[in-house]
Amino acid sequence: MQYFPKVASLRGLARVSGHCAKHGDFVADVLPGRVPLCLRCDVEKESANRLAEQRRAELWRCGVPGKFRQAKFRDLLEICPEQVAVLQAFKGWVARVGKDRNAGNVVMVGSTGTGKTHMASAAALNLIAHCGLDVRYVTSDQMRVEVCETWGKPGRSENVELRRLAMYPLLIIDEVDILDANGHGLRILNRVIDARSAEGLPTVYISNQTQERLTDIVGARAVSRMYENALVLQCYWEDFRARRMGN
Ligand SMILES: Nc1ncnc2c1ncn2[C@@H]1O[C@H](COP(=O)(O)OP(=O)(O)OP(=O)(O)O)[C@@H](O)[C@H]1O
Ligand SMILES: [Mg+2]
Ligand SMILES: [Zn+2]
Repeated sequence: MQYFPKVASLRGLARVSGHCAKHGDFVADVLPGRVPLCLRCDVEKESANRLAEQRRAELWRCGVPGKFRQAKFRDLLEICPEQVAVLQAFKGWVARVGKDRNAGNVVMVGSTGTGKTHMASAAALNLIAHCGLDVRYVTSDQMRVEVCETWGKPGRSENVELRRLAMYPLLIIDEVDILDANGHGLRILNRVIDARSAEGLPTVYISNQTQERLTDIVGARAVSRMYENALVLQCYWEDFRARRMGN
């Protein structure tokens, strides 16, 4: 900052020196009686605010459903030893994928209400907030909608949309097996799985179906790529939704 004594004195500012615990001695132009503030602290605060704003925008864009936008791992109560083990293994993978894109896939299968979407949401929010990773959460059906929406729209194409889904550093595909009857969902899911496997990009696949049933629904090629180099987490314990209703 350049100091213009005449301008400063005209505006009633006085040049005073101050001390910042972080940045040391500094001088600043302040109104009489005001405490001088460190300009470097100010600049740092400003850029931290910008980063926080950017992270907030990413959290909105990441696609995590509204009810899970505050989901945390620590909100999950211990249900049984199997659940504790799954949570531990998944948290370990989340820590790895934050640092290394070769962390491999996760296949989370299990019965309804076991916290799969909650765990995946907590992972997404964590990785965005702490690692700045561009994570996207979708369901198979949402991918179909996003891709099919481009049809007939000027300047948009199915291929561009597919490529966007295929290139997220981490993609979470929930409800993998819930697909439309006319086959576009299945075709789109297959193309995304194919492309991500070819790029070696980590993907979390979540489903209520066993590997055999999944093979019937989405095909052997897709299932083989999903399970390739994957941490498989089996979530078979009581339905938390039913427990709540019982209370
Ligand atoms: N261990 C737990 N402690 C506290 N709340 C839990 C736990 N497990 C699940 N929940 C809550 O129960 C509800 C159902 O969990 P969630 O939607 O993640 O299940 P899911 O496995 O994805 O089920 P589905 O297969 O039907 O999609 C959520 O509100 C979630 O926050
Ligand atoms: Mg779910
Ligand atoms: Zn300072």
